[in-house]
Amino acid sequence: MKKVNEKYLELVEIAERARELSYSPYSGISVGCALLTSSGRVYTGANIENASYTPTVCAERTAIFAAVLAGEREFSAIAVAGGKRGEGVTDGFFPCGVCRQVLSEFASPELVVLTAKEGGYDEYTLGELLPAAFTKDKV
Ligand code: THU
Repeated sequence: MKKVNEKYLELVEIAERARELSYSPYSGISVGCALLTSSGRVYTGANIENASYTPTVCAERTAIFAAVLAGEREFSAIAVAGGKRGEGVTDGFFPCGVCRQVLSEFASPELVVLTAKEGGYDEYTLGELLPAAFTKDKV
């Protein structure tokens, strides 16, 4: 029997619970996120939409900004759980390009990125999801 990787199961479950706080009346897509800092703390986020559409902020960025505003700038993993509101998580729900870029501002390419799926998660690194990133050493 294939062994299920459980190392980050708790972080993924926290992201799934954060998903319940999503404010997403326009897309009907609810997303939750759990960001693990190098110091071991977890910051959660959920997508927050707006009637004017473009002010919408993704779950990942609400978590990253909450962490940064709490004085945290070193992260080791981020879990994302997304799908249709009121339904289970959608397999392969990845952070969007903007959120990958925002993550790369504070995290190394080794940052672990977890996408929730029914009964578990898939594991990637930020470097895999955002190769050849534009980084602050170029500015
Ligand atoms: N969304 C996220 O929260 N994270 C992503 O990485 C992708 C998209 C949200 C934004 C919007 O509220 C909804 O999902 C549909 O795009």
